[in-house]
Amino acid sequence: MNTFIPYGRQSIDEADIEAVSAVLRSDMITTGPCAEQFEKALAGRVGVRYVVVFNSGTAALHAAYFADGLKQGEEVITSPITFAATANAALYLGGIPVFVDIAPGQFNIDISKLEAAITSKTEVIAPVDMAGIPVDIDSIMKIAADHNLIVVEDAAHALGASYRGRPVGSTAHMTIFSFHPVKHITTGEGGAVATNDEVLFEKLRMFRSHGITREPARLKNQAAGPWHQEMQLLGYNFRLTDIQCALGLSQLKKLDSFLARRRAIAAKYNCAFGPNKNLIIPPDTEYGDPAWHLYVIRLGESLNKTEVVHRLQEKGIGSQVHYMPVYRHPYYQSMYYNPEDYPYAEAYYRQALSIPMFPAMTDAEVDSVIRAVSAL
Ligand SMILES: Cc1ncc(COP(=O)(O)O)c(C=O)c1O
Repeated sequence: MNTFIPYGRQSIDEADIEAVSAVLRSDMITTGPCAEQFEKALAGRVGVRYVVVFNSGTAALHAAYFADGLKQGEEVITSPITFAATANAALYLGGIPVFVDIAPGQFNIDISKLEAAITSKTEVIAPVDMAGIPVDIDSIMKIAADHNLIVVEDAAHALGASYRGRPVGSTAHMTIFSFHPVKHITTGEGGAVATNDEVLFEKLRMFRSHGITREPARLKNQAAGPWHQEMQLLGYNFRLTDIQCALGLSQLKKLDSFLARRRAIAAKYNCAFGPNKNLIIPPDTEYGDPAWHLYVIRLGESLNKTEVVHRLQEKGIGSQVHYMPVYRHPYYQSMYYNPEDYPYAEAYYRQALSIPMFPAMTDAEVDSVIRAVSAL
């Protein structure tokens, strides 16, 4: 029996398999009725008017920056402590990622440093709800409004989190989610953008499917016949199949129970590691209820991260680092970002380690992680 406990893992049950099989037995396997149902269900869950699903969270980010109108040479402000995709999606459009350090002792962008980073070229602020801890979105929206900027919240880690009682997804101009297997719900690969803005919604939909429309009311030229369709902007094929959307719909029904289990595991970890002088538990926010995508502990000075990873591995416990600051990737190093500009991201990177956190973890597995980590 494989007793290895990974840092994260999907939970698939018979109902999920049945939902996918039903689509495979049907006529429509590409984007169709299931996609529409999944979008409606997601919109209901996160409290927005519109959701557009994509074939990855990365495509969702790309589409959101496109819908904003990001162009060559314009800047997207984000956090260096994120998956590279948050910044890469700006590069796809010729944009320039601008990193603002994380706040001391926190995982998320330092809002007090945001305004100083805004220039005449800034177009988007893209804060990240790192590990599922929501950013203080009201403060960010206020700064964005003062400077006429759009906020694309990267909530790839935060489906089901809430901010001052409101669901994450309902509070920024656009919010993106990811349905990669380690996330809260999965479609294998997949993502979504949530928005309340109808104009952005239409652009997102067009971008997802080659920039082509068949809707009579939207046509620019006179229809040559019933076959008529028009490509009006340069889009991509970023569609999510109905096979995947059926899985997403089935998974979404379990989101609350998944979140509850994640919360319970986090509470046990916090209790066990809080008093440990060698460890720092994740920060608390007074305004948000996190979705606990990851449980990131920070190791005290006495612990060497490489040794810790090996020691946990020997005990059958997986761990991972989320994330090396984006500017440390060779591709970004060639763009002259200076690590010295980001002392708190650097400190975070020295200390941070994600330990197992996924809904299917048994109590015995949680206890065994607690024992191994406490013994470090
Ligand atoms: C913070 C963040 N943003 C964006 C993405 C991209 O999502 P995807 O893997 O679905 O393309 C991820 C995925 O890991 C992520 O963690």
